[in-house]
Amino acid sequence: MVHINLLKKLMCGILLLVVLTICLWRETRKGYYIPFKTESKSFQIPRALGKGDVLTTHLLSSKAVNEKGQLSAALPVKLNKVKGIISSTPPGNNAVAKSKKSLLSVNVWNEDNSSKNLIPRLQKVKNNYLAMNKYNVTYKGQRNTAKLSPEKLLCQLRDRVNVTMIHGSDGPFNTSEWQMYLPRKNLSQEVGHFRQCAVVSSAGSLKFSHLGPEIDSHDAVLRFNGAPTIGFQNDVGEKTTVRLVNSQLVTVEEQKFLTDTLYNTGILIVWDPAPYHAEIHEWYRKPDYSFFVNYKAYRTRHPEQPFYILNPKMQWQLWDILQENSLEDIQPNPPSSGMLGIVIMMTLCDEVNVYEFLPSKRQTDICHYYQRYHDRACTMGAYHPLLFEKNLVKHINQGQNELIYTHGKVTLPGFRNMHC
Ligand SMILES: *[C@@H]1O[C@H](CO)[C@@H](O)[C@H](O)[C@H]1NC(C)=O
Ligand SMILES: *[C@@H]1O[C@H](CO)[C@@H](O)[C@H](O)[C@H]1NC(C)=O
Ligand SMILES: *[C@@H]1O[C@H](CO)[C@@H](O)[C@H](O)[C@H]1NC(C)=O
Ligand SMILES: *[C@@H]1O[C@H](CO)[C@@H](O)[C@H](O)[C@H]1NC(C)=O
Ligand SMILES: *[C@@H]1O[C@H](CO)[C@@H](O)[C@H](O)[C@H]1NC(C)=O
Repeated sequence: MVHINLLKKLMCGILLLVVLTICLWRETRKGYYIPFKTESKSFQIPRALGKGDVLTTHLLSSKAVNEKGQLSAALPVKLNKVKGIISSTPPGNNAVAKSKKSLLSVNVWNEDNSSKNLIPRLQKVKNNYLAMNKYNVTYKGQRNTAKLSPEKLLCQLRDRVNVTMIHGSDGPFNTSEWQMYLPRKNLSQEVGHFRQCAVVSSAGSLKFSHLGPEIDSHDAVLRFNGAPTIGFQNDVGEKTTVRLVNSQLVTVEEQKFLTDTLYNTGILIVWDPAPYHAEIHEWYRKPDYSFFVNYKAYRTRHPEQPFYILNPKMQWQLWDILQENSLEDIQPNPPSSGMLGIVIMMTLCDEVNVYEFLPSKRQTDICHYYQRYHDRACTMGAYHPLLFEKNLVKHINQGQNELIYTHGKVTLPGFRNMHC
């Protein structure tokens, strides 16, 4: 009897050890799951819209991580927060952080954030991109040391960013072959005019947000790349009116763009990074990803589904405005899909609500709500100048900080209703 009991206890002990080891191993592995990709192809990871960084990443992420019931190094910070002590704030921000009455404003994106606050690895990545200058950026514009008013900035976006799709009359696309593939109607003819639109990032912070019904109440919903709705309706909704995809997704076979039914709903728009202010001809000769073959293949299989190619001029017109209004050199790479999608919807809608581009209280380093890998780059930007996009979006937000905190929600006006 004694022997058997002892044996049982021993077995239980061993089992517990094995379980613990597996758990620990999985936790560790997650952190390394997708390491930072090589520079040239790296727009895979940060391509999604979304996450952001914040003054108090650790404060916020501790909550999100805990909601998932995962181990969290940030736990002590959370306890401090409960007690109302913001001891985790970096030295430079003490003045802001100590004003206890505005804990809320501390917890939303600080629009003056700079790359000095990035973790060393991401600072290095940014410097590498500056040194590489892959798209031959030669920025000679001004730099606004004094901030433009939100109204002025909005007008700049409206007047200087040409949101157009490639049309059959454009440069190298004016061949009889291309006429068979490009949609006949332009985008605004196709969709008409929306009142309220939602732009839904792919951020991990959408998990457990219960924003689905609110998102679906909009006239039109824009989603990005491979972001699914099935299985996530409660958090991200189920309506998809427009899907903005990058050329890598369309080109790379593993992404199953041609066969995955996810892509068969709504209007598709594909974009591809072009050399700095290049003519369409130049870009057409050497796109970042040669997506044209798959574009044609998709059009042949789904001739009724509107599918546009974003005119590449837009990306650098927008980038110039980001650079002009940042105090430092930003990554010389095109803006994120997220930023492009926001501006596209501002041309189609009276009002645009953007979800979890600026992170809410649910902020997390989980890159996408539908995947499991973690990387701070998804929040802060590596390839894309995400940090500066977020600063700009925060500056022109017309909604309340509280809604950023609770819903990750930013409200922007449509260009049509602006008076410049
Ligand atoms: C910018 O973001 C970083 C990372 O979250 C944060 O540590 C820092 O305090 C922020 N700085 C400012 C000025 O907002
Ligand atoms: C940038 O310029 C270099 C040298 O002029 C050229 O070889 C390269 O192809 C250019 N890159 C792009 C993306 O146009
Ligand atoms: C925008 O595109 C239109 C039509 O192609 C052109 O006439 C106009 O000059 C462009 N504006 C800018 C700022 O590039
Ligand atoms: C296509 O456009 C170019 C100018 O971009 C023009 O020179 C050429 O003649 C056009 N081709 C056709 C078939 O219209
Ligand atoms: C779309 O086509 C309509 C009708 O031809 C035209 O009025 C409108 O300016 C076009 N819009 C764009 C963005 O090209």
